Amino acid sequence: MKIIFTKKKLTKVIKSEKNLGFVPTMGAFHVGHISLFKKSISQCRKTIVSIFVNKPQFNNKKDYKKYPRNIKKDIKKIKKLNIDYVYLPTSNQIYPKRMNRKLDISSFKKKLCGKFRPGHFESVADVIERFIKIIHPDKIYFGKKDFQQFIIIKDFIKKNYPKIKVIGCKIIREKNGIASSSRNFLLKSYEKKNASKIYKLILKNKKKLINKKISISFVKRKIFEYGARKIDYIEILNINKLIKPFKRKKIFKIFIAYYMGNTRLIDNI
Ligand code: PAJ
Repeated sequence: MKIIFTKKKLTKVIKSEKNLGFVPTMGAFHVGHISLFKKSISQCRKTIVSIFVNKPQFNNKKDYKKYPRNIKKDIKKIKKLNIDYVYLPTSNQIYPKRMNRKLDISSFKKKLCGKFRPGHFESVADVIERFIKIIHPDKIYFGKKDFQQFIIIKDFIKKNYPKIKVIGCKIIREKNGIASSSRNFLLKSYEKKNASKIYKLILKNKKKLINKKISISFVKRKIFEYGARKIDYIEILNINKLIKPFKRKKIFKIFIAYYMGNTRLIDNI
């Protein structure tokens, strides 16, 4: 596993790579990340992982500052996995000029997290495009835990880089049911227990919610009882109707974003 810090060096070592799999991350690795690495390793000749906490995609400074970072631990966790390259760029390499590009991305950006995080998905698309231009991967891997991100970026890449295959990977969960996330490192143990109760509540009532046997407001009340401080949204969406071309078959998922203490958690069930 080669750890690479500069664009120059990276460009040199990966120049002739074919069937290169790329997994972009912001570090603080957990089993969710590891599952993406393993998928790429199994499908590609070489795998490259980037670790870069992308400041522009954060909507407030505090959230960016407290985002968990632990490069040493991260490297230790992935040492034995057969990853070929780890790219750890500085901000200057990714953003050589102070730039705020306005990218044209799917209107799905206006829903769910997009309503609460203006500009967030544009910034994610922007940084992914910058990495694509440096790395030129054949395949790129995203988790369906960040479902909206996956759909929007997949659409963006399909339109602008049609040769690159975007692969969505299933959500990995902790034993208690909650989706593994770097932000879980910020939760106190009682907050984790409450988040688990919320996951189980939604899972148990998913069918009833979809069939309108119980109301969203009933579930919301319960979520507050289980200790959520704020709910940004809880919505039922047909995932086959999110981005054109629509498919006929209906597949419903429940999307949620809420605060447990000061930590914002998202999930789709
Ligand atoms: P980060 O939160 O580090 O996530 C990196 C990748 O891991 C994303 O594709 C995310 O969906 C996936 N992932 C996280 N938790 C997961 C889980 N429990 N199961 C499956 N996959 C999971 O998402 C980002 O970073 C950034 O926005 C990034 C794409 C790197 C752009 O800066």
